[in-house]
Amino acid sequence: MERSSLRTRLLAVSVLFSVLTVGGISLTSYMIVTDSMASVARDRPVRVASVNARVLDIQARESEGNIGLDEEWSAESQEAALTEYLDQASTIFGERAPSEPQIAILDSDFVPLWTSSDIAVVAGIEGQRRSALELGEQTASAIERGSMFSGLIGPTVLDVHVVHTPVVLPGGEPGLFEVAYYPFREEAVIDSIRPPMFALAVFAMLIMVVMMQTSMGWVLRLVNELRRTADSVDAGQLDVRLPEGGEHEIGELARSINGLIERLHQRAEMQARFVADASHELSTPVAGIRGYTNILRAWGGEDPEVRSEAIAAIDRESRRMARLCGNLLSLVRSDQVVHVKSVQFDANAVAREALAAAATHHHEKGLDIVGPAEGQLFMTSDPDRVEDVLSVLLDNACKYTLEGGRVELSTRREQDSIVFEISDTGAGIPLEDLPNIFERFYRSDASRTEATGGFGLGLAIAKTTVDVLHGSMGVTSTVGEGSVFTVRVPRG
Ligand SMILES: Nc1ncnc2c1ncn2[C@@H]1O[C@H](COP(=O)(O)OP(=O)(O)OP(=O)(O)O)[C@@H](O)[C@H]1O
Ligand SMILES: [Mg+2]
Repeated sequence: MERSSLRTRLLAVSVLFSVLTVGGISLTSYMIVTDSMASVARDRPVRVASVNARVLDIQARESEGNIGLDEEWSAESQEAALTEYLDQASTIFGERAPSEPQIAILDSDFVPLWTSSDIAVVAGIEGQRRSALELGEQTASAIERGSMFSGLIGPTVLDVHVVHTPVVLPGGEPGLFEVAYYPFREEAVIDSIRPPMFALAVFAMLIMVVMMQTSMGWVLRLVNELRRTADSVDAGQLDVRLPEGGEHEIGELARSINGLIERLHQRAEMQARFVADASHELSTPVAGIRGYTNILRAWGGEDPEVRSEAIAAIDRESRRMARLCGNLLSLVRSDQVVHVKSVQFDANAVAREALAAAATHHHEKGLDIVGPAEGQLFMTSDPDRVEDVLSVLLDNACKYTLEGGRVELSTRREQDSIVFEISDTGAGIPLEDLPNIFERFYRSDASRTEATGGFGLGLAIAKTTVDVLHGSMGVTSTVGEGSVFTVRVPRG
């Protein structure tokens, strides 16, 4: 439904686009042709008038010459000279076809003395005639017959141009020599190019629409293919990939979506692993509790020793479960960026608090726990989260260091960061374990066999927390000598 509406919309756009483009080009060409034809029609009578008015002047002077300069014109001789003059005009200009420039000779009252045809004298231009006579200069009139665009929809109609040239008639009387031009030939030229131009425009529009539809059809086909594949991707089938062919935008879109599916895939796998690990870790204390409950039920009534042992074990296992639940909650909360505070605090004070808590927790081991030197080191970040990270690292350092060992937490400023360094003289971490210790539920084989009781969540929580604070965390360790964890947090 939506797809077909997109098709319709694209079709409408392509039709509109081609109509505007081809229409614009056709209109411009029409205007250029019409304008040049109109200027030909304007120039033609001017040229004819300039050449022929001179011929007539010579004619008039010749008849004056016949009389002699000092002689007075008698009415008869004037009449005879005018008749001869008009006869000459008739010989020169003759009967003219309508498409030729038309000639008229008028007297000073604009009464036609001689015309080359019925259409030679144009009405309604007395003003221009008068100014030609008064100024003694050539003037021109244009008689508007239609708009410039009339030729687009019907027969072309261009202006009629008349050129008025003042002349001296035999006997010294002023007169007008007029050339009127009806641009029938130019109109015919425009009319003859209209049908092929129209046909060409329609053809060009069709070609454009077909070409645009073909290319859009190709794009829509690619999009359709993407959609079909994307439809088949669901949470359970994240190994499907879109076809990535082609170095074009659609190919790029497919590559981006594939990247997204890949990340979703990894996340889904991580979550599945996490749930499996979490339930596995939970099942151990649950199994313990159920075992001891059975023991209680069977022998708890008679044997007070068994009873108190079972109760102690149930208490231990339920505490372990509670701790695991607490850790899982911390893990979920650790990557919630929205709850990060940004306050100014003394990093040394926070470090000392974390140290004091670790010392209390592990006091029975008799470790030498050393804190940062006196003095303050201010930073702007989330003090609770910084303390969480330090607690995890100090807890590990104390846990994995044998009695009498040494755990040290130092702080320093480095460029835009505050650096916390937690070192211990403990067991160290085997090289092959180093890349994995920040993963959820990862514990080295050695730690697994030890009775340290961890879940392998501490470092995962610390790492996510440091990421949320835009910091970084690193570790160096030598088996048998100890480990150094370094945390860098921006000073803010
Ligand atoms: N300071 C350390 N010295 C030696 N090994 C360490 C140290 N810190 C971490 N490890 C190793 O890295 C593993 C992962 O540590 P992590 O803190 O994530 O889990 P955990 O301490 O085993 O359990 P939890 O912290 O959830 O109680 C540990 O099991 C241990 O093998
Ligand atoms: Mg730990």
